[in-house]
Amino acid sequence: MSIEEIKKELKRELNEERYIHSIGTAETAQKLAKDFGLNEQKAYIAGLLHDCAKCMDFELSKKIVKDHIVDIDESERENKKTIHAPVSAYIAEEKYGITDKEIISAIRLHTIGKCMMSDFEKIIFIADKIEHRTREKEYREQIEKCLEEKENPLDKAMFKSFEITIESLLKRQLPICYTTINVYNELIFKIK
Ligand SMILES: [Fe+2]
Ligand SMILES: [Fe+2]
Repeated sequence: MSIEEIKKELKRELNEERYIHSIGTAETAQKLAKDFGLNEQKAYIAGLLHDCAKCMDFELSKKIVKDHIVDIDESERENKKTIHAPVSAYIAEEKYGITDKEIISAIRLHTIGKCMMSDFEKIIFIADKIEHRTREKEYREQIEKCLEEKENPLDKAMFKSFEITIESLLKRQLPICYTTINVYNELIFKIK
């Protein structure tokens, strides 16, 4: 599928705000790829497709996970906010014909992350949080500031994003999945 065909299909599958967010994530991912010496075109595609299953019905998402996805823990599978990441990775491969494993794994990990992520996976994760089209300025600026650091900018930006997420989950008394805690712990040792 060409980029234009992907966009056309996404426009059909997503609501307007999610579509605009996807375009924003693609643009920001491309820029980050350029800044950090990674493949810009691949970053654009990963950004574009990272939420391709976000508007899918929850029951259908659960069925896809049950039938096709093995590497997933219960808290990610049972949560409406997190299940779209593994399902989007699956749809990107099956429907949009993406064969590049790096793109697929960056989509897979964009919501809760994982320990030992590659730089490519990190920039997609970060682009999703700081794209300028739909993300609030106050939120994204905290993460963007970290990217200006000389040492470990990607890990610092990842850490900030996890810090904001965990704080918000605590405030709202929502559960925090094990992976989130493990990644937070990994990053805290890396950035100190
Ligand atoms: Fe997402
Ligand atoms: Fe997103």
